Amino acid sequence: MDRFTLAHPILNLLPPEAAHRATIHGLRLGLGGTDNRPDDPILAIGRFGLDFSNPVGLAAGFDKNAEVVDAMLALGFGFAEFGTVTPKPQPGNPKPRIFRLPEQRAVINRLGFNNAGLEAAAERAARLKHRRGYGRGIVGGNIGKNKDQTDAVADYVTGAARLSPLVDYLTVNVSSPNTPGLRALQGRAILTELLSAVQKARRKPVPVLVKIAPDLTDADLEDIVHAAAESRIAGIIVSNTTIARPADLSPELAAQTGGLSGAPLFAPSTEVLRKVYRLSGGSIPLVGVGGIASADDAYVKIRAGASLVQLYTALVYQGPGLVARIKTGLAARLRADGFARLEDAIGTEGR
Ligand SMILES: Cc1cc2nc3c(=O)[nH]c(=O)nc-3n(C[C@H](O)[C@H](O)[C@H](O)COP(=O)(O)O)c2cc1C
Repeated sequence: MDRFTLAHPILNLLPPEAAHRATIHGLRLGLGGTDNRPDDPILAIGRFGLDFSNPVGLAAGFDKNAEVVDAMLALGFGFAEFGTVTPKPQPGNPKPRIFRLPEQRAVINRLGFNNAGLEAAAERAARLKHRRGYGRGIVGGNIGKNKDQTDAVADYVTGAARLSPLVDYLTVNVSSPNTPGLRALQGRAILTELLSAVQKARRKPVPVLVKIAPDLTDADLEDIVHAAAESRIAGIIVSNTTIARPADLSPELAAQTGGLSGAPLFAPSTEVLRKVYRLSGGSIPLVGVGGIASADDAYVKIRAGASLVQLYTALVYQGPGLVARIKTGLAARLRADGFARLEDAIGTEGR
């Protein structure tokens, strides 16, 4: 029995945020375990100048303060993204602000970018970089803006300048539903300005990705693809949590304000991914995220156009063994469908 199987019933008794803190502490103490097996070469993929040994990444929000990046990479993730980090530390919204929906394998959160601030994350990222050298796994830093900051671009510029020398890629998060006004940064003119400013602000030319919401119209998506192309960013992460509420959620949980993640997000976020892939003609690398809980789910995202995938919520329900299961299952599916490399399966849905 692995440690998660032992700890899960106890973690489940705790309120979600306390369980998360306990998990982070356990990981910091080295209780997460390691999967040292080399990745199946069929899973290797190169994108935006980085070589991923497998396409399965940890989504932002699990490790807001870059405390357990190496522990998560040791579990077998091909990459891990810390953050969202804001320039100044901020407490986030009043608790409770995370809600489990176990029957739907979902979570609603309205954390509001609680984090220890850019300096704390940068110091940890610097130590991590020093420790790891150019070791296994790729590290992303996800940046955002403070709630009280009216000049949004300035906060992203600050984040990009500080973190660019310390990470392998940067993510510009303009899609969390819990910071008022944030998602308005997805408009074509402001997004182009923001992404250009972020790229200029880097002290090292690491790739820049933008992370978008699933709750966008087709016209919004066209604007985003244009802004991404005009500013020549490296990729788009599709998607963040949704403010929509599928009909089968219990009414009292559905009434909670915040972003919904997990299984109910799978179909809508995959639909947005598919549209962005089509709109961009496959020319912009995409990261598929939203409701991935199995190898089949990861494979669907890849065939819909994702070069890489990320997950968070399914870890809460299935534990870290999920990462190895997804990798093994994905390699088997690629072989069963006659693909020699992951690369060859991307965007092949319907062909
Ligand atoms: C508790 C929680 C906190 C999150 N915090 C962030 C965040 O700080 N920044 C971000 O870009 N996404 C954040 N996310 C969104 C995830 O990165 C991901 O996009 C979303 O949860 C969909 O993936 P999933 O269904 O696999 O969880 C958070 C998600 C959850 C559940």
